[in-house]
Amino acid sequence: MPAIVLVGAQWGDEGKGKATDLLGSRVDYVVKFNGGNNAGHTVVIDDEKYALHLLPSGILTPSCTPVIGNGVVVDLSVLFDELAGLDARGIDTSKLVISADAHVIAPYNRTLDKVTERFLGSRRIGTTGRGIGPTYADKMNRIGIRVQDLFDEGILRQKVEGALELKNQVLAKIYNRRAVTVDEVVEELIEHRDALRPMVADTGLLLSKALDDGKTVLLEAGQATLLDVDHGTYPFVTSSSATAGGACTGSGIPPTRIDRVVAILKAYTTRVGEGPFPTELLDDMGEHLRKTGGEYGTTTGRPRRCGWLDVVIGRYATRVNGVTDFVITKLDTLSGLDTVKVCVAYDVDGVRHDEMPMTQSEFHHAKPIYQDLPGWWEDISGCRTFEELPVNAQRYVETVEQMIGQRVSAVGVGPGRDEIISRHDLLEE
Ligand code: IMP
Repeated sequence: MPAIVLVGAQWGDEGKGKATDLLGSRVDYVVKFNGGNNAGHTVVIDDEKYALHLLPSGILTPSCTPVIGNGVVVDLSVLFDELAGLDARGIDTSKLVISADAHVIAPYNRTLDKVTERFLGSRRIGTTGRGIGPTYADKMNRIGIRVQDLFDEGILRQKVEGALELKNQVLAKIYNRRAVTVDEVVEELIEHRDALRPMVADTGLLLSKALDDGKTVLLEAGQATLLDVDHGTYPFVTSSSATAGGACTGSGIPPTRIDRVVAILKAYTTRVGEGPFPTELLDDMGEHLRKTGGEYGTTTGRPRRCGWLDVVIGRYATRVNGVTDFVITKLDTLSGLDTVKVCVAYDVDGVRHDEMPMTQSEFHHAKPIYQDLPGWWEDISGCRTFEELPVNAQRYVETVEQMIGQRVSAVGVGPGRDEIISRHDLLEE
């Protein structure tokens, strides 16, 4: 039965939990396929707020098996802290499965992430400082440490030794930091080994069998389309594949088994970290969106940059991910405005662009061309059908749907699990 990919359409923090909530107990497996504890999702259940960074959101649904796929980079201390936090609140975490092929974030990579950013100065990426980029770089350089390595100490020592030959040169000679020893790294990596052992599996095989058995598998991206290392606003991106293609490489599920691609689109745009952002509002309106939408990072607490919705990005996300359904989130944040603006194209040095510009320089120069839509003043958080929304809010959703050219199947009107309007079943064509 179905494999559904869930992606963010913009620069992250779109509220992917809304789609997970809609699918609810119909999902048997939730798979995280990229990223690590740079992500952050807040899930509200019965007024209880859960902030997850590494664990897939499915961990909160008792009927669901949460899976950390091979494409993820795992910080073991964060993993066990999050599990302990949930256990303390009575959440059963015993179903969690972790790929033997997932890479682990070694302590030197956390250090390198931070010192590299400092070294870059004004050219910094604005990373979360969690060691994500250096760990993916090690994977590509074939000097990474994988979950399976923790269970063969001889191999683990060899691999850490090999990695440190290079890392210690960089730490000591370039960044003037203390060199680290093989012993201290190995000690940290194997600290939770016994607790980890029963969670580790061949997750590609597990998921393939689950699909054969008619189970529903949700593949949930960390970050979002414009933070994807290939299709995002490089170099201001994360170091993994956050688009639908990454769901295949990061989980071991082939493209031919993917049935639906759901993209989450916030009713306005936010971005954390550096990099171009054509519709960014540096004025009172930006501050209004940040305050009303509670736009502060779940992982780092950083204030998010805010701006109007950009449908050029929406169309791009449709194309790159093969989106079948959009879920618009946080429509309630736009209540109380006379006019709501939507960016429909860019002016790049006097030339109109209806598609994402080809080059980084062009995107840096992109000036938004806006269409004004009439706003609404009503509190919409109690609306549960599309028809209950004020006419102008309905018009906003329908106009965005037309501009993007793909159906909007649900609309989020508040942070709670039930604060959503469903228009089409996400599992149906
Ligand atoms: P990294 O993933 O820590 O390497 O950071 C690279 C870029 O991705 C930075 O601009 C981060 O702010 C951004 N980023 C990483 N994770 C998230 C997320 O979950 N939401 C929004 N931005 C993110």
